[in-house]
Amino acid sequence: MSDLIEEIKQLKAERKAVILAHNYVKAELQDIADFTGDSLELSIKAKNAGAGVIVFCGVRFMAETAKLLSPQSVVLLPNPDAGCPMADMAAADKVAAYKAAHPDTIIVAYVNTTAAVKAHVDICCTSGNAEKIIASLPADKEVLFLPDRNLGGNLNRKLGRNMQLWPGFCPTHDRVTPAVIAAARAEHPGVKVLVHPECDPEVVALADVALSTGGILRHVRESSDKAFIIGTEIGILHRLRQENPGREFFPLQPEMTCPNMKKITLENVRDCLKDMAPQIELPPEIMASAVKPIERMLALS
Ligand code: 13P
Ligand code: SF4
Repeated sequence: MSDLIEEIKQLKAERKAVILAHNYVKAELQDIADFTGDSLELSIKAKNAGAGVIVFCGVRFMAETAKLLSPQSVVLLPNPDAGCPMADMAAADKVAAYKAAHPDTIIVAYVNTTAAVKAHVDICCTSGNAEKIIASLPADKEVLFLPDRNLGGNLNRKLGRNMQLWPGFCPTHDRVTPAVIAAARAEHPGVKVLVHPECDPEVVALADVALSTGGILRHVRESSDKAFIIGTEIGILHRLRQENPGREFFPLQPEMTCPNMKKITLENVRDCLKDMAPQIELPPEIMASAVKPIERMLALS
């Protein structure tokens, strides 16, 4: 393991690369990254990295967003099979057809979408800035939120909106049921339940707070509680435990893993730096259109 890490360090220096890692990837990848964060934090880092080479330890849509924001950089996705099933639930041709049929509807895309989908939408959001973005939209306009019906439903409830919802969902978060929350509360009485807003609105209603992964990390930092039940992908437990020694973190469901985030390995990182592949490559016309809703989002964030 340490030889492999040495090799990565050497290649990283040779390539003048920056390694970004999402809060869900394997602990050993978080440990070698220059920066670990949620999708909003990582997109801002990617934009400002100023690096010729960005290694993105996350799923494809995140690396695509990095490429859109840093088009001059080589963006490497260490494992090309790391995708997001929720992002794949909104196909670009279906979104284009919806737009053609509803030309007056504002289309908001969760950043968990392909670049090809972003090319058809008005504005993006992440779970970290969704409330701000939705609150900025005119109240008298029809809005379509895609692809996550759970995040969209949670926003409708919280902000009193009536957005149309695309029928997508995250398989990892959608599995949580109200009974799971009840069982965790019974096992750990008095301990607060923190969930991700990709959980079903019925689940979010039973939790204490629903936040992005970066929001969960901040919430814990600012809280004086000694224990927390964490209702999101278990990769986040690594940083929570590292940053908060002496405090306890119970996963809401031990099987709450994202198989795609877990596909990326240290070997993949070494190999991508060695081969300078696989790179994110997007058609120029998609790049030109897809960056606009992301820039609009960042301007409001
Ligand atoms: P965050 O933006 O909260 O990091 O979430 C990304 C994601 O894919 C959650 O499933
Ligand atoms: Fe996609 Fe869910 Fe995995 Fe996030 S946790 S990358 S939304 S499948």
